[in-house]
Amino acid sequence: MSAFARNEGILHAEEVSLAEIAERFGTPCWVYSRRALEAALEEFQSELIGIESLVCYAVKANSNLAVLDVLARRGAGFDIVSGGELKRVLAAGADPRKIVFSGVGKTAAEMRLALRVGIVCFNVESAAEVDRLDTVAGELGKVAPISLRVNPDVDARTHPYVSTGLKENKFGVAYEEALPLYRHAASLGNLHVCGIDCHIGSQLLDAAPFVEALDKILALVDQLAAEGIALEHIDLGGGLGIRYRDEAPPAVSDYLQPMLAKLRQRRLRVLLEPGRRLVGNAGVLLTRVEYLKPGDVKNFAIVDAAMNDLARPALYGSWHEIVPVVPRRGRVRPWEIVGPVCESGDFLGRGRELALAAGDLLAVMSAGAYSMSMSSNYNSRPRAAEVMVDGRQAHLVRRRETIEELYALEKRMP
Ligand code: LLP
Repeated sequence: MSAFARNEGILHAEEVSLAEIAERFGTPCWVYSRRALEAALEEFQSELIGIESLVCYAVKANSNLAVLDVLARRGAGFDIVSGGELKRVLAAGADPRKIVFSGVGKTAAEMRLALRVGIVCFNVESAAEVDRLDTVAGELGKVAPISLRVNPDVDARTHPYVSTGLKENKFGVAYEEALPLYRHAASLGNLHVCGIDCHIGSQLLDAAPFVEALDKILALVDQLAAEGIALEHIDLGGGLGIRYRDEAPPAVSDYLQPMLAKLRQRRLRVLLEPGRRLVGNAGVLLTRVEYLKPGDVKNFAIVDAAMNDLARPALYGSWHEIVPVVPRRGRVRPWEIVGPVCESGDFLGRGRELALAAGDLLAVMSAGAYSMSMSSNYNSRPRAAEVMVDGRQAHLVRRRETIEELYALEKRMP
């Protein structure tokens, strides 16, 4: 059962009413469910019983310390893409031996930080990065564990902005270049070649491209083994989609089992980097209707959340379900759910059939992933509060920013 359900008509997060949360913490406000986070992680872990494996949550999806903490306590590792994310996961109590470092643009400073704490693996994305990492590791007297992120040139059949496994994308090492680059990396003194990695895109709704990519990656693993480069792990990346509207994403088992079947005969540790699937449906954005502005052509409901909070609709045309926290009777009309930001692209939903009155609370669903983590201060809007619900309790896990904080780092002219 979803962690967000109605109780006597009122939408709840676990056992706490969202109306009560809005009262206590104000709006806009992000609300997460601990139970939903744990259940989503458990879906992956239960498929991996008996297999040497590690689920490395992709921190970029939602990097709140409480979210990281909940997942770490249940055994998750982390996939990070910056020194900032590294410090965050350490602050949340992560074990460095459960951290992998992805990303196309790691700086020398970020490499040094990760080498000092002793992460499991760097997912290296270019020849130039291989050489830089070797140099940086040498300077520190360390050996850097690496895998190459190989671009299998597979069509993930998802939104172009979140598709990463095609040749035309900036990510990873081209398939044909992988073998020579592995040979080169293996010849360097400060690198330990230990794995291979691949991530083909996000919000995938079909398991087939994952298997297609895996077949290509395993062919490389075999070629490498024949040359004496024996890998210890394979990182299958993230990308499994969730339901926002009426999508039918594969069950975790239908996604994983076909791949695990191909891996069972091999002595490779399996790493995964799910982001959205762990947190996407574990969070909502709570917002209040400020004004109704019905019109001849369009009816606008102006709410107190905006594109600076949730950028996905403006950025990708993404659809998030929007529901009233306390449904009311009355005339149902199509509403443009828009924020106060001065852009026509500032909408959270379009043409939503709802009965609304000013002051109503709305919940924007499936807002746990790439939502708060992509928010900004555009229009000098403080970032919203974040609340983690755990059974009957609601914990403030990030207080609302103050206006003064927004310009605290700035200075007037001398
Ligand atoms: N691993 C790597 C190397 C990645 O780049 C990503 C996501 C993941 C794992 C996790 O992917 P997931 O399991 O969450 O699909 N902002 C976009 C999504 C960008 C995804 C970026 N990379 C959105 O809101 O849809």
